Amino acid sequence: MQPLSQVTLKAPATSANLGPGFDVFGLALDYPTDQVTLTVAPNRKRGVWIKISGVQAETISTKPERNTAGVVANYMIKEFSLNTDLIIKIKKGIWPSKGLGSSAASAAAVAYGINHLFKLRLTTEQIIQFAAKGEVASAGTEHADNVSAAVCGDFVILKSLQPLEIVNLKAPPDMEVCAAVPHMVTPRHKTAKARLVLPRMVTIRKLTQNVGNAASLVSGFARGDVDLIGRSMVDEVVEPARAKLVPGYHQVRENALKAGACGVTISGAGPTMLAVVNKRSSDAAKVAEAMKEGFKGAGFEATAFVTRPGRGVRLLES
Ligand code: HSE
Repeated sequence: MQPLSQVTLKAPATSANLGPGFDVFGLALDYPTDQVTLTVAPNRKRGVWIKISGVQAETISTKPERNTAGVVANYMIKEFSLNTDLIIKIKKGIWPSKGLGSSAASAAAVAYGINHLFKLRLTTEQIIQFAAKGEVASAGTEHADNVSAAVCGDFVILKSLQPLEIVNLKAPPDMEVCAAVPHMVTPRHKTAKARLVLPRMVTIRKLTQNVGNAASLVSGFARGDVDLIGRSMVDEVVEPARAKLVPGYHQVRENALKAGACGVTISGAGPTMLAVVNKRSSDAAKVAEAMKEGFKGAGFEATAFVTRPGRGVRLLES
C-alpha cells in the first residue's frame, strides 16, 4: 500500500449534550475550528510526533500517550500495522478544556486523515469509533457525542455506542448559536471530574421530563423549528449537578433568555455556556453580549461569539 505523504484537515468545535442528551447529542459549529496536518515520515521507529500551536497551545500535552490525537494515531497505526512514523501538526483555533470539543476535533481530524492517507476505506462509523479512543485520554471514558458531530457535522444523535449507531440531522438555516467562554483555568482532567459530580440514581419524574425534552429537541431538528429546539434544551439530571462548576451559570442563563435566546445550556462538560437563537426573531449579537455580562457579574471575563451549526471534518489539501 503506497500512502499519500501529507494531508491537511479542518475540524470543527462541537457542543455535546444540548441539555437533555447527555452523551447522546452533539452539534458541530461553524466556528471555531482546528487545523491539523498529518505527515507520513520514514519509519525510523520514532513513532508519533506532535507539534501544537495556536490558542492556549501551551496547555496541551505533546506526549502522544497523553494527547487525544496521539492516542488515536498510535491506535490506528497498530490496528492496521501501518509501519510508519507520523508527524501531527495541530493549529488550535478551539479553546482547549472549555466544553467545545477541542480534543474531539483533533481526534476526528487524525482518524479521518489517517483513513485518507492510507486509503483504509473506513466507514463513517469506524472513523468515529477510532476518534472516540482519543476521548479516553481526556475524559477517562469513551464517549462519542463530540467526535460524532466533529466527523458528521450538523446535529448528531448517538443512538448506541456499541454497536455504534448514529443519526445525523441537518440544522435549520435560521438557527444561530451563541457561546460564551469564561476566562478561567479549568482543572486537569476537567471532563472526568465533571462526570464525577453526576447523580448515580435518577427519579422517574426527571427521567420522563428528560425524555420529553430530548424527543422534542429531535423533532425540532427534524421540523426545522429553532424555537422548539431551544425550548427543549432543558436537562433535569446532569445540568443541575454541574451548574455549580460554572461560575455565573444562573446569571448567564437568565441574561441570554432575557436577550432573546430560545434556549441555554452548558456546552458539554462546561464551563462554556451555549445559547440557541432564532435569527428571524432575535439578535444573536445581543444574546452573546448578555452572556458575557453574566460571567462578568460572577467575576470572570469571557469571550462571547456568534456562530451557527457547521460542517464536519474535511480535507483542506493533500
Ligand atoms: N457528554 C460529555 C460530558 C461531553 O458531558 O461529559 C464532554 O465533552
